[in-house]
Amino acid sequence: MTPDTSTQKEIESVLSESRLFPPSPEFSAAAHIKSFEEYEALYTEAAADIPAFWARQAEALDWFQPWQTALEWNEPFAKWFVGGTINAAYNCIDRHLSTWRRNKAAIIWEGEPGELRTLTYLQLHRAVSRFANVLKNLGITTGDRVAIYMPLVPELAVAMLACARLGATHTVIFGGFSSEAIRDRVKDCGCKLIVTADGGYRRGAELRLKETVDRALADNACPSIEQVVVFRRIGSHVSMLPGRDHWWHELEQAVTSDCFAEPLDSEHPLFILYTSGTTGKPKGILHTTGGYLTQTAYTTKYVFDLKDEDVYWCTADIGWVTGHSYVVYGPLANGATVFMYEGAPNYPDFGRFWQMIERHRINIFYTAPTAIRAFVKWGEQYPLRYDLSSLRLLGTVGEPINPEAWMWYYRVIGKSRCPIVDTWWQTETGAIMISPLPGATPLVPGTATRPLPGILADIVTKSGKPVGPGEGGYLVIKHPWPSMLRTIWGDPERYKKTYWSEIPNCYFAGDGARRDENGYFWIIGRVDDVINTSGHRLGTAEIESALVSHEAVAEAAVVGRPDEIKGQAIVAFVTLEGNRVGNEELKEELCAHVAREIGSLAKPDEIRFTDALPKTRSGKIMRRLLRELAAGGAVAGDITTLEDISVLERLREDEE
Ligand code: WT7
Repeated sequence: MTPDTSTQKEIESVLSESRLFPPSPEFSAAAHIKSFEEYEALYTEAAADIPAFWARQAEALDWFQPWQTALEWNEPFAKWFVGGTINAAYNCIDRHLSTWRRNKAAIIWEGEPGELRTLTYLQLHRAVSRFANVLKNLGITTGDRVAIYMPLVPELAVAMLACARLGATHTVIFGGFSSEAIRDRVKDCGCKLIVTADGGYRRGAELRLKETVDRALADNACPSIEQVVVFRRIGSHVSMLPGRDHWWHELEQAVTSDCFAEPLDSEHPLFILYTSGTTGKPKGILHTTGGYLTQTAYTTKYVFDLKDEDVYWCTADIGWVTGHSYVVYGPLANGATVFMYEGAPNYPDFGRFWQMIERHRINIFYTAPTAIRAFVKWGEQYPLRYDLSSLRLLGTVGEPINPEAWMWYYRVIGKSRCPIVDTWWQTETGAIMISPLPGATPLVPGTATRPLPGILADIVTKSGKPVGPGEGGYLVIKHPWPSMLRTIWGDPERYKKTYWSEIPNCYFAGDGARRDENGYFWIIGRVDDVINTSGHRLGTAEIESALVSHEAVAEAAVVGRPDEIKGQAIVAFVTLEGNRVGNEELKEELCAHVAREIGSLAKPDEIRFTDALPKTRSGKIMRRLLRELAAGGAVAGDITTLEDISVLERLREDEE
């Protein structure tokens, strides 16, 4: 097909503006979506009737009972595929067993010390069914909440899918979170059981996860927890509380591998995942079954142009939403072979990732800009040592990618052959929303390009008016989508206020963005008090309240400053109580305190003691001033442009 003149013009004008990378003819020819025209036609068709578009995608899943209505919308509350019954684990496993995929590898796993394991779909089915029976024997039924605090081992996915099989709602807590953080989350959603492991490996060290769980549960701090199941990963000694704690492998002896997959309402709560917002308390983002699975399955297939013979690797930890949607649910619903790696990218050396790509002949590789910037710093000699010719598609997620890092990724890892999909989405959106389609969309380094078919994204002013080309505004979504969060667990008012009240009749994402002449979306960053540090999302208020809970601290204000590797570094301005003296020792103590309260990921990169915090007459901390002060000490080679910073500041002022 030859592009029509308007598309041709559009492509030419992008070209005149910046580097443009159209998909290669070979890639397009074999892709699910083969041209920009095809994408645009699909987009227009979907926009004409969004529920009907998503209903067609939902048909790719196996339903026990068909739905009657694709979407019921009572702003801001959505129900997708109303009346349908479905099971996520059944769709991720059972339905593949009647096909040739039965003996296909579902999971190929590498432990940090180097162990290798493969689970076929049939083996995964047995493992999940057994563990579902274990949970059932411990009294877990449909509607209960189960916390999962594990290293990245296949059993983490097994535990999630076992919950899904029964209709128990899982809440996975990232293994880097502290006992305090576990306690807050478990209490907030009233978990009955925690699945954990004796430990895991990270950069050669043992992480003692069970000990952290024990501290979280000490002094009956989480009265809802009745049982703890412990997977043996590292073989360390752990203390087991009789009656409460059980070994996974012992319980498994007592069950069969027959377990019925519960037909659940399409809106049945699949999982709760906590994420940071503007206030001190993390929010429990609730995702339900039918809509979530529809959009994760659809996006995995089309954004990653997934084919049955691919080996697919998303490097995210399953403790974050990327791992939920693009390590577990999306790929397995498509019957993909998923590669998982337990540990750090620089262990035992900087070549670890590339060595594994060579060893497992990985075809699709999805990672975060912060990781790419670290690879750049470590040097291209490491990837150059390995055969990366199996790669055919690259992806990024989590924060804006600076064009230089994009170019490095494209050239050094993708050998100027692999399209890069820069995917914008959030814990709240559940699945990818804005992204190139790799066989269709001409790529420009640094932009997530266009919204996917079925997604009505826009960039608007505070009052909801679309901004013109080149102007900055707020990123919003104007029509409900299947994998959207349904509420904040236990707090529908906060859900309404945070996401649906800022801009009339729109979902407010919390990001500032610009649109270029060609309608490409450039995401600049958060306009709220959320810091994106090394791809981890943290609320400044959360870190502030951790700091002020230390007896030496009177007041604290936390801001982000641009950082070459992390995207944003955490800077804390702290005033001290009475006669306390701010010195290096106290800085260290405060960092350790934050690590205890939240986790090491939240440790400030810099602490500045000050006599007073700058405040407005009404007593509000002048964050803009602090951000400027913090940025003054920033290292050379900042990744955020001055123009972007000024756009964000302006949007933030609108907010205040
Ligand atoms: C925030 C959401 C869901 C993926 C993991 C992060 C930022 C995410 C991009 C991108 C620019 C991005 C946004 C968003 N973000 N992807 N491709 N380009 N920014 O999920 O922890 O919920 O964070 O990450 O600021 O709001 P999350």
